[in-house]
Amino acid sequence: MADAVAVWAVVVAAGSGERLGADHPKAFVRFGDNPLIAASVAALDDHPAIEGIVLVVPAGWEERATFMVDDIGAGKASIAIPGGATRSDSVAAGVAEVPADAAIILVHDAARPLIPADLIDRVLGGFADGADGVIPALPIDDTVKRVDAAGRVVDTLDRSELRTVQTPQAFLADVLRRAVAAPDRGTGTDCASLVERAGGTVATVLGDPRAMKITTRADLERAEELHRAD
Ligand code: CTP
Ligand code: MG
Repeated sequence: MADAVAVWAVVVAAGSGERLGADHPKAFVRFGDNPLIAASVAALDDHPAIEGIVLVVPAGWEERATFMVDDIGAGKASIAIPGGATRSDSVAAGVAEVPADAAIILVHDAARPLIPADLIDRVLGGFADGADGVIPALPIDDTVKRVDAAGRVVDTLDRSELRTVQTPQAFLADVLRRAVAAPDRGTGTDCASLVERAGGTVATVLGDPRAMKITTRADLERAEELHRAD
């Protein structure tokens, strides 16, 4: 399906990176030779199915985003705009910049620098009948428990029914546009949750451990090792 239609990507990078604790926003911490955001932008720019990329960055960082794009020669990343207070607000701002003729929008966290090309292929290829969105998901190896406020175990969950999910996440553009426009869209930590709230159907494909999210300093070090090994 995705082969014949226009696909645009929105990279959300407007968070502050509080848990990383650097002195500037997480998307602009050094990763290899470039700011963190450059790695995922380069991967999306290299993918033949993607026509254009919108970068959503912290207010005041638009020009630095443009320098980064020039520096790495990511010709498809022509738009850099400021994000909002929550991830959902930043996604809404980015989606509003995607041209009306895009049929599929891929949303990606800049905090996930490594996007193997075959992961993008799987996500774009996963629009089975009736799916409004496709997201990469990984099975859980650890046992998962629900606890109360005091940390006492309340319940042991059936991990065979659970997945951790990643980005890039792909959506039919009109479905995502409607989901992000909902006044009660909430503050979900991914886009699929917005589409789920709006009643959409979301399919999963196998994720990739390399598409890990950088939250802490230790994550940054691990991702740099994976990057060097690539
Ligand atoms: N994000 C965003 N706009 C926000 C909040 C988050 O674009 N208002 C983006 C982040 O830049 C990141 C992705 O959403 O690429 C996932 O968010 P997270 O990993 O939580 O990043 P931060 O919010 O920056 O980190 P922290 O929660 O530690 O402050
Ligand atoms: Mg956050």
